[in-house]
Amino acid sequence: MTSSQIDHLLNENRRFAPSAEFADNAIANADLYARAAEDREGFWADQARDLLHWHTPFTQVLNWTNPPFAEWFADGELNVAYNCLDRHVEAGNGDRVALLWEGEPGEERRVTYAELTDEVKRVANVLEGLGVGVNDRVAIYMPMIPEAIAAMLAVARIGAVHSVVFGGFSADSLRARIDDAGAKLVITADGGYRKGKVSPLKPAVDMALADRNGSGPQETVENVLVVRRGGNDVDWVEGRDLWWHDVVPAASAEHEASAFPAENPLFILYTSGTTGKPKGILHTSGGYLTQAAFTNRVVHDIHPETDVYWCTADIGWITGHSYVTYGPLANGATQVLYEGTPDTPHPGRWWEVVEKYGVTILYTAPTAIRSFMKIGRAVPQKFDLSSLRLLGSVGEPINPEAWVWYREIIGHGETPIVDTWWQTETGAMMISALPGVTETKPGSAQVPLPGISIDVVDDDGTHVGNGNGGLLVITEPWPSMLRGIWGDPERFKETYWDKFHDKGYYFAGDGARLDDDGDVWLLGRVDDVMNVSGHRLSTTEIESALVAHEATAEAAVVGASDETTGQAVVAFVIIKQSYLDKNSPEGLAQTLRAWVGEQIGPIARPRDVYIVGELPKTRSGKIMRRLLRDVAEGREVGDTTTLADTAVMSVISAQVK
Ligand code: PRX
Repeated sequence: MTSSQIDHLLNENRRFAPSAEFADNAIANADLYARAAEDREGFWADQARDLLHWHTPFTQVLNWTNPPFAEWFADGELNVAYNCLDRHVEAGNGDRVALLWEGEPGEERRVTYAELTDEVKRVANVLEGLGVGVNDRVAIYMPMIPEAIAAMLAVARIGAVHSVVFGGFSADSLRARIDDAGAKLVITADGGYRKGKVSPLKPAVDMALADRNGSGPQETVENVLVVRRGGNDVDWVEGRDLWWHDVVPAASAEHEASAFPAENPLFILYTSGTTGKPKGILHTSGGYLTQAAFTNRVVHDIHPETDVYWCTADIGWITGHSYVTYGPLANGATQVLYEGTPDTPHPGRWWEVVEKYGVTILYTAPTAIRSFMKIGRAVPQKFDLSSLRLLGSVGEPINPEAWVWYREIIGHGETPIVDTWWQTETGAMMISALPGVTETKPGSAQVPLPGISIDVVDDDGTHVGNGNGGLLVITEPWPSMLRGIWGDPERFKETYWDKFHDKGYYFAGDGARLDDDGDVWLLGRVDDVMNVSGHRLSTTEIESALVAHEATAEAAVVGASDETTGQAVVAFVIIKQSYLDKNSPEGLAQTLRAWVGEQIGPIARPRDVYIVGELPKTRSGKIMRRLLRDVAEGREVGDTTTLADTAVMSVISAQVK
């Protein structure tokens, strides 16, 4: 973000108080802050007891004797799936709809809590029959269909660990994640609907598991369980592959949910860091579920008897884990699950879904809101959106214009908006307004949630004070915090804890500013992580993909600000002379864009690839991405005096034009 954009943001002074009606009926109240401030750990213990069923009650709350490795509720035992399913059925709510599923082509399935529980028990039996047990890893690579949720919960039910890989990732990305986690089983589908056609998934699994000819690590995958969804033709490996429809309905629907320790690993979710290798963020059971359920309840103000909730995130991201699968189901909510893209078969598809199901709470990303703004208000205005009573935002800063449009056009000028800041690593929301309590400010995530301690500090870890900017830190452990990076405790310490080691603060990697009221404004990443449409991408990872192409000698990638996607990937590439001697440079930029899409996944495909003769480097050889960002954003190029060759930027600027 440029300083003028920041000033513009901080001049925002509109305020929106909740309506008396909303405040009267809201689950959250101001006492939550007072209770948490009085006794933070006691507050979380109360939430854990009130919101979850414990097979064995805990007596310990937080164990922080070996920082940064935290334990929460460690001597308690629970079953995560039991908490999301069986107990609602036992409480007489088996007939409540858990999932209102809408396929992209328009099919509809309503799955009740009783039905979902039944399905999960069968899948749990299948998994155990395949030899999957406590702590074994299961990769899930699926479209947004009810079976994906059932798969996650079945893995949780038997104490195994899932690693959901977003269906948009390539075979290579999938393989790297399978190898890192040592997955024993892959659950997938033949394909799923995206943009009006079947997007195949099983072929990527086959490619990921293809004979490695002795190279790479030993294959750990024993079976592949395949849901039929797309109806596309698939290859079949006898003895390894199983159709879901053959084995799941045939399995017993009796399955006892065993109790597992609160610190039993629940899932690994890979996310981009500053190096080329994605980090396997590890989350465990009791603390994670406590904070996911608590935040979903108070921030989304979920009244399970009456609300229809819809979080548009894919289960391949943390938002889909915490606010599609775990939070809402732990709370017994009814939610919409939509398979496809927002604009298929028509640009009003989402609003049609809102109208059809009477959605009351909508949680989505600013990038989606900005694309709807671009299409224009006429599209949503064709639909009846009057059921909506609360809107949420997540994934990237929401600019005040988009915030106000969201409230006016989607929220008919009345609904509160909660802008929620958190990360894959934090597991659940950390900073957000409480609807019905907080007077909201467009563009600011505002205040830490009850029980959460954050600060904005300078490089030495000193509080910056209101009106100043700095780095966002979390100053006390929280229940849903990551427990580590899978297989790499050193990287865990280095990435998040070394920077403010003396203070024991968690370094989030985000810049932030406190306004005069002490409210937090997020200013984007301070490291080499980009945020494209709310998805995290690493500059290094994309650079590595680019240099893996035979044509590329060197590459530098920057995140340039983009009106719709927040940031966009822009690559500057030097081509090998040996390649140019034999090949025409014609179409090379397009080839490289597509190549990155194949290597990592379409979300990583650069918006622009510029073929240049040189890259701006300091005398010590460090690429100055700041200057490339200036070019990519069409700005005057900043100070070039530290460059080894100061002329290089004018050459690049000319080449880009
Ligand atoms: O930079 C912040 C941004 O997204 C990053 C986390 O990305 P990820 O782990 O993929 O999780 C996204 C969904 C929780 C953060 O470091 N971010 C997330 N939410 C916000 C945000 N930036 C500003 N405002 C937000 N509400």
